[in-house]
Amino acid sequence: MRCTVFGTGYLGATHAAGMAELGHEVVGVDIDPGKVAKLAAGDIPFYEPGLRKVLNGNLSAGRLRFTTDYDDAAEHADVHFLGVGTPQKKGDYGADLRHVHAVIDTLVPRLKRSAIIVGKSTVPVGTAAELAERARKLASHDVEIAWNPEFLREGFAVHDTLHPDRIVLGVQRDSTRAEAAVRELYAPLLDQGVPFLVTDLQTAELVKVSANAFLATKISFINAISEVCEAVDADVTLLADALGYDPRIGRRFLNAGLGFGGGCLPKDIRAFMARAGELGANHALTFLREVDSINMRRRTRMVELATKACGGSLLGANIAVLGAAFKPESDDVRDSPALNVAGMLQLNGATVNVYDPKALENSQKLFPTLNYSTSVVEACERADAVLVLTEWREFVELDPAELADTVRAKVVVDGRNCLDAARWHDAGWRVYALGRATV
Ligand SMILES: NC(=O)c1ccc[n+]([C@@H]2O[C@H](COP(=O)([O-])OP(=O)(O)OC[C@H]3O[C@@H](n4cnc5c(N)ncnc54)[C@H](O)[C@@H]3O)[C@@H](O)[C@H]2O)c1
Repeated sequence: MRCTVFGTGYLGATHAAGMAELGHEVVGVDIDPGKVAKLAAGDIPFYEPGLRKVLNGNLSAGRLRFTTDYDDAAEHADVHFLGVGTPQKKGDYGADLRHVHAVIDTLVPRLKRSAIIVGKSTVPVGTAAELAERARKLASHDVEIAWNPEFLREGFAVHDTLHPDRIVLGVQRDSTRAEAAVRELYAPLLDQGVPFLVTDLQTAELVKVSANAFLATKISFINAISEVCEAVDADVTLLADALGYDPRIGRRFLNAGLGFGGGCLPKDIRAFMARAGELGANHALTFLREVDSINMRRRTRMVELATKACGGSLLGANIAVLGAAFKPESDDVRDSPALNVAGMLQLNGATVNVYDPKALENSQKLFPTLNYSTSVVEACERADAVLVLTEWREFVELDPAELADTVRAKVVVDGRNCLDAARWHDAGWRVYALGRATV
């Protein structure tokens, strides 16, 4: 089958490559000519493990190409995926839908046959119905809107696209074609037995934001417990292990630490609260304000812990920050807790040397005034404290004995509870961590 994917960022580029991998003829469309040129040349404008291989395999096979030309894309297919960004509005909790609207306004008048637009972006509930109305006014042919929220995780995006946990499809009440078209596109996945849930538009939209709200709540729950652990010198990691054995709770997403960030969870829970308010259901989601505030408190708590680790003041302290991406296996620094903390440390008078295996370029664009190093050892040179703020495997596996000669003081602050504290302690380091006693 033929399809297009509008927006070729983290979601769209992966989806376009994934659909081509399933055997379809795919055109990826973006308004950023630089991004399109890179992708067309087999290069990825961001870091995502495994994506380069799938991209190149399908470019070579002739199943995948990229363009900025909407006429070309409108002509290419009758199923168009929409995967543009829906960032937080400036100065407001709501989602900024201008890119989504731009796709509809530019694409729909160009459609010369009946078509289906399948949204994948995360949007406030009610958006798809509003887009159906918007499209109806612009269309000269029948245009159906469907919503197929995306659950991929950066760092595992290729796997999640080709082996999703479930596929959710919201369709219009009077839909006649969307379900059949999407079933055909995803046939190889459905044949693997991936659950396929067909809903109305608003339920599909709500599934995605509810999933993110739940995950954010689980992280903030353990971080709230972590605050109590800190007050009594209890160990939040052992506590989480003990909780996790209960299958009703589960261990995943119970890692206490610096909290969540990135381009999705923070803006999605805020947009969810804003939308609930507009719908007159604001009380239903007031707990998410607390989830958000517990999460943001972790960043300040990390700065306090670093200050303590440096002997009570950050003035003149030389700090190595290991990790800048919001999570490992990604170069995404949108609302990254690690970079946020690095910035706050600098504001408090520390000299900060940041190292990240993949996110240096993006970090430099966002925080140009921090110092950046090209290796762990360079960042740790004469450091008064080493902060591990993203749990890259390279950091988890560091040899504390080897690093000891590089630093000025053998002090490590584990912002992700990812280090083997006993091993570091045995190598002569003082180990500070969120939610655990200092050893
Ligand atoms: N990144 C993820 O892990 C992830 C996971 C699930 C859902 N989502 C959702 O997917 C959506 C996209 O997220 P992302 O992380 O890929 O964002 P992104 O910023 O990486 O990519 C968005 C892309 O859309 C392009 N774009 C903007 N306006 C356009 C237009 N009018 N026509 C064509 N292209 C246009 C931009 O140039 C950019 O390349 C968001 O709603 C996000 O919440 C993202």
